[in-house]
Amino acid sequence: MLNVALPKGRLGEKVYAMFEKAGFECPSIKENNRKLIFENEEVGVRYFWVKPSDVAIYVERGAADIGVAGKDILLEYTPEVYELLDLNIGKCRMAVAGKKDFRYDMTRTLRVATKFKNIASSHYLSKGMDIDIIHLNGSIEIAPILDLSDVIVDIVETGTTLKENNLEVIEEIVPISARFIANKTSYKFKAEAINRIVNQMALEQAEAK
Ligand code: PRP
Repeated sequence: MLNVALPKGRLGEKVYAMFEKAGFECPSIKENNRKLIFENEEVGVRYFWVKPSDVAIYVERGAADIGVAGKDILLEYTPEVYELLDLNIGKCRMAVAGKKDFRYDMTRTLRVATKFKNIASSHYLSKGMDIDIIHLNGSIEIAPILDLSDVIVDIVETGTTLKENNLEVIEEIVPISARFIANKTSYKFKAEAINRIVNQMALEQAEAK
């Protein structure tokens, strides 16, 4: 049985469709209910819906053999997993954003609000800048507006959230997309099944181009 952690939400539905196409269908997953685990014994697959930011934890600890996680989470938490394929979906970018008239003031410690403190720290470390990290769990865009921070480090997808809050991108840090990840031990023992899925997904991608 192959255990697959899927990120709950719109991205997860796209990801499931890719698994289905690769031959790992599980029709019960489309039932409209609040169940979180779905299994198709015939094909040998069990899916579970988890919070997108938790997928890597399930995979790292072996509760899931494989899963799909955003590159943002992989960069932030550096889990011990194999990153096998860039699925080229869930594309966005990690960026520094601030108020429209924002300019760096090198005489003061920069206050940075973010969910991604490691990404933010290493970005500013590479610029040799001293920062004060303010760790928030969501609605990061509010921080500069209320002068809780000078800038934010956050994910920008369409840019709508920034625009509607009168903020703009100051610097792009790194492009983000969804990655196929595998538990290191599972990859040893279930290599054939895992490679079959990865290869099939890579093929689908190439055909779609
Ligand atoms: C993410 C991110 C931004 C927004 C960017 O938030 O933190 O707020 O999406 O998308 P956009 O560029 O298309 O507007 P999410 O919806 O995950 O909520 P949260 O960070 O407030 O929890």
